[in-house]
Amino acid sequence: MTTPLRAAVIGLGWAGSVHTRVLSSLDGVSLVAVADTDPGRRSRFNGVRTVGDVDELLDIELDYCVVATPTTEHERIGVALAAAGVHALIEKPLASSLPAAFRLVEAFERAGLIGAVGHTERRNPAVRELCVRLREGDFGAVYQVATRRHGPFPDRIRDVGVVTDIAIHDVDLATWLTGRHITSVAAQVSSVNDGPYEDLAAAILRLSGGEIVDLQVSRISPHRERIVIAHTARGCVMADALTRTITHYDNGDTPGTAVPIRKITTYEVPGAEPFRIQHEAFRDALLGLPNDIVTLRQGAAAVAATEAILTAARTGTCVSLVDHDFIRQ
Ligand SMILES: NC(=O)c1ccc[n+]([C@@H]2O[C@H](COP(=O)([O-])OP(=O)(O)OC[C@H]3O[C@@H](n4cnc5c(N)ncnc54)[C@H](O)[C@@H]3O)[C@@H](O)[C@H]2O)c1
Repeated sequence: MTTPLRAAVIGLGWAGSVHTRVLSSLDGVSLVAVADTDPGRRSRFNGVRTVGDVDELLDIELDYCVVATPTTEHERIGVALAAAGVHALIEKPLASSLPAAFRLVEAFERAGLIGAVGHTERRNPAVRELCVRLREGDFGAVYQVATRRHGPFPDRIRDVGVVTDIAIHDVDLATWLTGRHITSVAAQVSSVNDGPYEDLAAAILRLSGGEIVDLQVSRISPHRERIVIAHTARGCVMADALTRTITHYDNGDTPGTAVPIRKITTYEVPGAEPFRIQHEAFRDALLGLPNDIVTLRQGAAAVAATEAILTAARTGTCVSLVDHDFIRQ
């Protein structure tokens, strides 16, 4: 593939406006078209082709397209792009159900196209730093991961609940940080104000290495929180995605004992904008360069986990994920 790559964005809301801004200044890429069903959203764009839907978009010569429509539209649009031979970066969650996520994986793999999922929380500088240091063994074995992700109701998200929309970040992070897959899930969810979808959830996941993940998420809190904590052999390490800081409560090499903390270290982690890092990775994937895109299979694995959370909460049972072979790939 030759540069500049010809890119488009479909869905020009919150996420789409970040994608278009980043793509407008990304080396090796030319934003040639944007699409939205809302004429008001389209009218904000000058200098690129503006169209209403995916069918019109496919009349334009494209190398790839970013899908930033509501989640329930991802499958239809993604499958149309794959059928037309267009690579795609699809926003998280990959799809609103696991069968839909499977169909997307299959459509892109059958067509020999590159698909990726916009799990941008992996690109947060503090979370990346935590991942790098865990993988380098700085903190020894990981025993438990605890995540807290709370904030106010995002008025624009009307098609899915907080588990599908927000907790998906944490199931993806838990597996990515540890290099494990999820084997079982127990959970509780609730909705407030008689809404059709859940607004708060707590889940306990077991990972393939025996680690436990304790996940808390809500969209009812005026206080925004984006915290990932790893309890490790060398104490507790916390990544705060909002302040972009790492805090390490070091207990030396004495896990599980009542030793006092030996040292507390906090530092800020500088870094580029997460959406920009994500776009650089996707561009590099298309150019055949080394990259760390989040694959469609990984996106589908995250959807499997969020579906398991909802099933566990609905049935009051612990849901096994061991039969999902694809989540280990
Ligand atoms: N990666 C992240 O951190 C992140 C952050 C926010 C949202 N998202 C994801 O991005 C997606 C969009 O979320 P948002 O907050 O931008 O929503 P939004 O409501 O702000 O924007 C969605 C846009 O899509 C348009 N649209 C709807 N159906 C369409 C169709 N069939 N064809 C073309 N345009 C259509 C709407 O008119 C709207 O402009 C969701 O999947 C969401 O989960 C990801």
